[in-house]
Amino acid sequence: MSRMSLHSATATASPNIALIKYWGNRDEALRLPSNGSISLTLSGLTCRTSVTFEADLPQDSLSVNGALEPKANTARVSRHLDLIRARAGLHLRARVESQINFPPAAGLASSAAAFAALTVAAAAAAGLDLPAGEISRLARRGSGSACRSVFGGYVEWQAGDDDEHSFAEPLAGPDHWHLVDVIAIVNANPKGVGSSQGHRLAATSPLQSARVADAPRRLDLCRQAILAREFERLAAVSELDSNLMHAVMLTSQPPLLYWLPATLAVMQAVVQMRASGSPVFYTIDAGPNVHCLTPVESHVAVADQIRAVEGVSQVLIAHPGGSAALA
Ligand code: DP6
Repeated sequence: MSRMSLHSATATASPNIALIKYWGNRDEALRLPSNGSISLTLSGLTCRTSVTFEADLPQDSLSVNGALEPKANTARVSRHLDLIRARAGLHLRARVESQINFPPAAGLASSAAAFAALTVAAAAAAGLDLPAGEISRLARRGSGSACRSVFGGYVEWQAGDDDEHSFAEPLAGPDHWHLVDVIAIVNANPKGVGSSQGHRLAATSPLQSARVADAPRRLDLCRQAILAREFERLAAVSELDSNLMHAVMLTSQPPLLYWLPATLAVMQAVVQMRASGSPVFYTIDAGPNVHCLTPVESHVAVADQIRAVEGVSQVLIAHPGGSAALA
């Protein structure tokens, strides 16, 4: 079928690593975040999704890497398709087929890539021709961080006051600054508590209000450091922001502890490497794996040192990536 055919389309999208984190919603149903966030879209790790709306399907179906997904995951995708169907005035059910080339649910933002690709593919399959900002708003409803994966390079998600004003925008393209994400995998298994559940717990931490109140300052520092390509400033604000989010997680009720001993070992190795002159910083999402950001010139040496840390089973290398797109 041709890529713009009315009922079928395929799109690709990549995960992103948040430098200023999204943690907590002030409106859960609409996924309006408690604070804005900034991320870097990654290349090489890809989610490729085909959506086919068909007349005879009794219900939506979802397969990932060839295997049918459990009901809960299919229901989340169905709810997202409902938004797109409503928008297009379409009543057909869909077959959704995804291929993901990286470990899902291990703190590598697989839901960001998945819902960005799903939104682009489903909108096109439904015959909608929407500007990128609208695609980002829709993607946000499926998974908050997915609104950032709609764009390539360095991206900022404006928290916004309502549905209309909460979407991501590009800050700088992937070629603006060649940082590399050296991802230390310490456990590639799916995590116990997913981020949707985690967002609900954020407000139970007495630290969340302080974290949110200070977010505009950190967003400014991060934005300025990216635009001026100032590595040390970016390192300082990104590590602070990651530590703040994990402090909120640790002090939620019930507490969330995503770190494993090897997570801490990588954090300490990164701090030591920086003290001895290597430009590198860490940031950690809702999982035990550690993202180590470094300029491209240093990434081979950094990767070698990270690989040598006890408990690191694998190291993935991701460069700045492009936007979600029809395939
Ligand atoms: C720690 O976007 O995965 O990675 O909206 O419930 O799908 P849902 O949550 P999600 O949360 C991401 C949390 C984070 C930080 C970030 O990416 O900003």
